[in-house]
This record gives sequence, C-alpha cells and structure tokens, in this order.
Amino acid sequence: MRSQTDSAGGLRHLVTLDGLPRSLLTAILDRAESYRRIPGQPAYEGRELAAITVANLFFEPSTRTRASFDLAARRLGAHVLNLDLQSSSRVKGETMLDTIYTLEAMNTDVFVIRDSEAGMPEFLIDHVAPHVSVISAGEAHLSHPTQGLLDVMTIRTHKRRFEGLKVAIVGDIKHSRVARSTARALATLGTTDLRIVGPQRLLPGEHEFPGATRFTRIEDGIAAADVVMMLRIQKERMAEAAALDGEAYFREYGLTAKRLALAADDAIVMHPGPMNRGVEIDSAVADGPRSVIREQVNNGVAVRMAVLAAIAATLTRHRRPL
Ligand code: CP
Repeated sequence: MRSQTDSAGGLRHLVTLDGLPRSLLTAILDRAESYRRIPGQPAYEGRELAAITVANLFFEPSTRTRASFDLAARRLGAHVLNLDLQSSSRVKGETMLDTIYTLEAMNTDVFVIRDSEAGMPEFLIDHVAPHVSVISAGEAHLSHPTQGLLDVMTIRTHKRRFEGLKVAIVGDIKHSRVARSTARALATLGTTDLRIVGPQRLLPGEHEFPGATRFTRIEDGIAAADVVMMLRIQKERMAEAAALDGEAYFREYGLTAKRLALAADDAIVMHPGPMNRGVEIDSAVADGPRSVIREQVNNGVAVRMAVLAAIAATLTRHRRPL
C-alpha cells in the first residue's frame, strides 16, 4: 500500500484507517467537531476547497455517504462532479481507468470512490497523477474509512473517552467494511474491549479483528456494553442470501428494548444504515432515546468535510505556484 500521508504527515489519500496514527485520527475528529452543524443553526460555509474539484464515483448504491460527500465538498467551496454511472460511458464498456483519466483531464483533484471490487482505490492511487488524491467511500467488505471516523466521533461525543469502553458490534461482521474500519479506529484510539457478536457463519476469519472477543449469543455480547453497534445483513455479498430468514434472525439477534436492558444503563445504540427494521433492530430501539443513529449521519458530513479539508491542505502545499 502506497503511503496515505506525505513526508510532513499530511493526508494525501484515504483508503484505509490501517496504519494511520492516533494523532492524525484525533486531528481529523477535532476538525470535524468544528464543522459539525448544530440542528437548526446555519451550516458552516468555508473556502478550504476553493479551486478544488471533487468527483464522486459511486459504483455501488449509497444514500448517506454519497450525499454527505457532496454536501461536505460544497460547504467548503469545491466544484463537485457527481457522475451518474447509469448514464455514463461505463455502460458502453469504458474501463474504470479510462473514466478516471477522462475526469482527471478535466482537472479533477480528488476522486471519491465506492466500489465492490477489493483493491480498486489502491489501483487508482497507482494510476492517477501525483497531484490527485483518492478517498475510499467503501471498498468491498474491506474498508469504509470515513464511516469508521464518524462512528468514533459519535462515540467520543457521548463517552468522552476510548480507553475502558466496552463496545459490541453485532450482526453480519463477516461482510462488513464498517465493522473493520470502526474496529481499527477504536483500536488506534485505545479501546481494548471490543466484542464482535453474530451467528458463527457471519463472524469473520480467526485472523481478523485481533484482540476482539467473539460471541454467538447477543445477550452475552452486549452485557454491560457502553456502545452497541448493530449492522445490516449484507445480502448483496452473500451467496446464501435467499435462504436468510429475517424473522428468525430477529428472534435470535435483533436488538429489542429487552435485550438493550442488558447493556450499560447509559449505553448508546448505533447503526451505520441503511437499517433493516425488524431484522437487526426493532424500530422502538432505532427511534428510541438511546439511539444516536441520526447523529451518526450528521457527523458523517462533518467528518467528510474534515477529511476533504485535510487533503486539500496537503494538495495546496504541494501545488506549484502559478
Ligand atoms: N453507511 C453507509 O455507507 O450508508 P450508504 O450506503 O447509504 O452510503
């Protein structure tokens, strides 16, 4: 993996949270705090991305990530290009690389990419010009770095610490890029009690999630947890999707008010979205007083602003004077 930072430690690309130091994650979270919109108040409007062009290329469906990268870039003054892939020349057979080269020729500075193929963001880094940056908006089941950042930002807001926290991630861990990125961010920031909880067939390989404790009963996994993060069943990544019985899953693993009572009294409930209500989470919990799910969405805009601003600052430093 090519370095994601320059020689001064400035962010050049963001493909994974693996290997990024605590100081950089904390700096992004601090900057994101300053961008966070207080509901009902005007949004921050800045010029940090003035003269920067951001292209959003989503080759998998998205509501939250795509909309928030768009808003984040515009709020910081960028030119934003949202490629409509269904009506783009990719459907005529143009390769990913030719698509990228075409947009690069229009002076795109930052590519935001979501793709189901593992390795695509890194492949792009290897092929774009040296003054162009790549941000992953979700790579296969492997990585979703801005989701990991917004998750730890939300946890920090409510818990004010990472050391000593008990965090349970529940559901389809095996196919979840969110779980991988959030677990990585938590580990870097000092959380040591991470529980991954789900049916055996949806837990990842033994070598993954080092240090995490595995549970196959939700009641055991969320006991006394400070944070309960529920995950969507990723049917699109499962061969056996058709056989999955949502009602049976909910009976065994759905987060209900009764099960949530096993967690700490002040436990927060998270979900990256989109939710399958009545499959992994009961609506009464998703919309209840412990839920911070909509705060996660709000923090997503702020985190993406912070990441874009950090990358723009690095790009600007490297730009030749006109
Ligand atoms: N959490 C998340 O990535 O949501 P979207 O798929 O809607 O972007």
